[in-house]
Amino acid sequence: MALPASLGLAVLSLLLAANSAISSLNTTNESFMQCFRDHIRPSNSSSQLLYSSNTTAYDAVLRSSIRNIRFLDSSNTTKPVIIVTATNESHVQAAVVCSRKHGLRVRVRSGGHDYEGMSYVSEGDRFIVVDLAALRSVTVDTEQSTAWVQAGATLGEVYYTIAEKNRTVGFSAGTCPTVGVGGHFSGGGIGTLSRKYGTSADNIVDARLVDVNGRILDRQSMGEDYFWAIRGGGAASFGIVLSYKIELNYVPPIVTVSNVMKTLKQDATKLVTKWQQIGPNLDENLNLRVIAQAMDDDEAEGNRTIQAMFNSLYLGRCEELQTVMGNSFPELGFEAADCNEMSWSESVQLERKPESNSSFKAKSDFVKEPVTETEWEEIWRFLMEAKDEPLILIMDPLGGVLNEIAESATPFPHRKGNLYIIQYFMKWLETDMETTERHLSWMRELYDFMTPYVSKNPRAAYLNYKDIDLGRSATVWGPKYFKNNFNRLAFVKSMVDPDNFFRNEQSIPPIKSP
Ligand SMILES: Cc1cc2nc3c(=O)[nH]c(=O)nc-3n(C[C@H](O)[C@H](O)[C@H](O)COP(=O)(O)OP(=O)(O)OC[C@H]3O[C@@H](n4cnc5c(N)ncnc54)[C@H](O)[C@@H]3O)c2cc1C
Ligand SMILES: *[C@@H]1O[C@H](CO)[C@@H](O)[C@H](O)[C@H]1NC(C)=O
Ligand SMILES: *[C@@H]1O[C@H](CO)[C@@H](O)[C@H](O)[C@H]1NC(C)=O
Ligand SMILES: *[C@@H]1O[C@H](CO)[C@@H](O)[C@H](O)[C@H]1NC(C)=O
Ligand SMILES: *[C@@H]1O[C@H](CO)[C@@H](O)[C@H](O)[C@H]1NC(C)=O
Ligand SMILES: *[C@@H]1O[C@H](CO)[C@@H](O)[C@H](O)[C@H]1NC(C)=O
Ligand SMILES: *[C@@H]1O[C@H](CO)[C@@H](O)[C@H](O)[C@H]1NC(C)=O
Ligand SMILES: *[C@@H]1O[C@H](CO)[C@@H](O)[C@H](O)[C@H]1NC(C)=O
Ligand SMILES: *[C@@H]1O[C@H](CO)[C@@H](O)[C@H](O)[C@H]1NC(C)=O
Ligand SMILES: *[C@@H]1O[C@H](CO)[C@@H](O)[C@H](O)[C@H]1NC(C)=O
Repeated sequence: MALPASLGLAVLSLLLAANSAISSLNTTNESFMQCFRDHIRPSNSSSQLLYSSNTTAYDAVLRSSIRNIRFLDSSNTTKPVIIVTATNESHVQAAVVCSRKHGLRVRVRSGGHDYEGMSYVSEGDRFIVVDLAALRSVTVDTEQSTAWVQAGATLGEVYYTIAEKNRTVGFSAGTCPTVGVGGHFSGGGIGTLSRKYGTSADNIVDARLVDVNGRILDRQSMGEDYFWAIRGGGAASFGIVLSYKIELNYVPPIVTVSNVMKTLKQDATKLVTKWQQIGPNLDENLNLRVIAQAMDDDEAEGNRTIQAMFNSLYLGRCEELQTVMGNSFPELGFEAADCNEMSWSESVQLERKPESNSSFKAKSDFVKEPVTETEWEEIWRFLMEAKDEPLILIMDPLGGVLNEIAESATPFPHRKGNLYIIQYFMKWLETDMETTERHLSWMRELYDFMTPYVSKNPRAAYLNYKDIDLGRSATVWGPKYFKNNFNRLAFVKSMVDPDNFFRNEQSIPPIKSP
């Protein structure tokens, strides 16, 4: 399986041979392009692989997978000098070797969903983007119940491909089908199966990556520390992941999806309060999350209300779900009419695709102590007063098997002791600075307002819901995203990339010894 050092060495020696030829070129970007072409000659690609900013297709390629347009028009960000649309692993190796040689940084993009645009813009670095969208194969081994998944595959493609092979296999990962494997798995990955099977990262058993020297390493050749870091620590700090090998998860042939809506008049506050204790302790086959938002009250003109949607996935039939709900959460008044039975793969394809022309901002919190009913009323008031802020509050229950996995097992540390994670998410279509600034600053006010109700010392955050407001100082955001795992991540970084070649505005810095 391993394609170890030898290929990397071939790349390096090619580079040395090409070196004298390119030194006569003036600009780093031209030198890069020449170097890259010299390297990939053996793979004889007929398709266009390099898009420099003066070419017409550049803009379309840059926008191809991104979900947040607000970073593209900002004067504060720089865009890539060149985009490399790799179609072969050797292109990724060449991109690393040549960018390093010619003074360019690298940003890797798989699904392009980064919350702060860090996979395609920077705050000043001159860089190339290595776009992995074409490296998206999913190869299932039904006998072993494993799959090799290339980083550029989307979650939807993973779900579809594995379900096509066998209706009773699924995988624990997020609910949005357009999210990319490369960012998502390497940042943890939580979804409707997490309470039963852990995060995506918990189910990774091997990986292939390109390191800072352009070598391809697998689990064995990279070693356990390195392998640990790229399963929740954010691979962007450590290299370019080409593919992950995952262990598939059993799902029954029929699952049940349901949505139960409650407004304030229908006791939403009491139900959400109760849910905080129930959701994290439910049968592991039932994932019950709450999506809450303020809206105009249909039944009382001029008044506002909160709508709480109790959204569930049950790994089993409707009849059993009714029993589970009746025993654990009778107050919700769940009935057979709320059930939608389907295959697991249909259930994950149900999610709406996000608009590609919108801007968004998100933040996250972990809740350890249930918020009281009175406190919820205060939170709702804060949300209802902000008529022009399109916020949704997504609360995903934790617990289940997540409680049984040690905090240090992977860099994702948000395990035992946490009830649920809140994602504050808002999305808008306006592109003017004023609207953007207003939304961003209201989001910060909401975050301040929530301080008393959420985790403290540190106030934890989830790496996949990356938040630049947490700052540029690793000593501040490090413990928030990773708790005690931050030191080990910094130590691994110092071993595998001591000169900090792979970096972004919130990447792990190299620190000598933990
Ligand atoms: C609509 C939407 C829904 C979401 N739902 C969920 C959810 O249910 N659960 C959840 O946990 N998260 C969810 N997320 C968050 C998502 O997991 C992260 O945004 C994730 O980082 C996206 O990965 P990507 O490959 O699409 O993004 P990218 O923008 O391509 O990458 C994200 C980061 O990872 C780095 N990276 C990407 N590929 C590689 C690679 N191959 N090697 C090294 N570094 C790499 C990038 O450089 C960047 O820093 C959601 C996001 C969106 C926009
Ligand atoms: C490139 O370098 C050559 C010689 O050093 C010089 O004559 C030429 O003007 C340079 N071109 C650019 C675009 O800088
Ligand atoms: C774009 O820039 C590259 C690198 O500087 C150069 O080689 C190429 O000729 C340019 N292409 C066009 C169309 O100007
Ligand atoms: C990738 O490149 C290698 C040589 O570097 C070549 O042997 C292989 O056939 C290429 N694969 C594809 C899919 O182009
Ligand atoms: C490269 O590939 C093209 C078709 O994609 C083929 O016509 C050509 O002969 C190949 N060249 C080499 C050197 O293999
Ligand atoms: C650009 O940076 C300035 C100073 O840091 C900041 O005030 C402004 O909000 C930023 N603009 C955008 C669009 O991010
Ligand atoms: C190439 O680099 C030069 C100098 O760094 C820069 O002025 C030019 O805009 C770059 N060209 C492209 C296409 O990015
Ligand atoms: C499908 O997967 C299940 C495990 O989820 C396994 O028991 C079963 O044998 C598989 N069926 C086939 C046809 O591979
Ligand atoms: C609207 O809200 C006010 C204040 O909360 C309340 O007194 C009033 O009864 C509400 N109106 C309706 C029609 O429910
Ligand atoms: C996004 O906006 C651009 C420019 O405003 C437009 O050309 C494009 O069609 C839009 N795309 C979508 C998917 O709405």
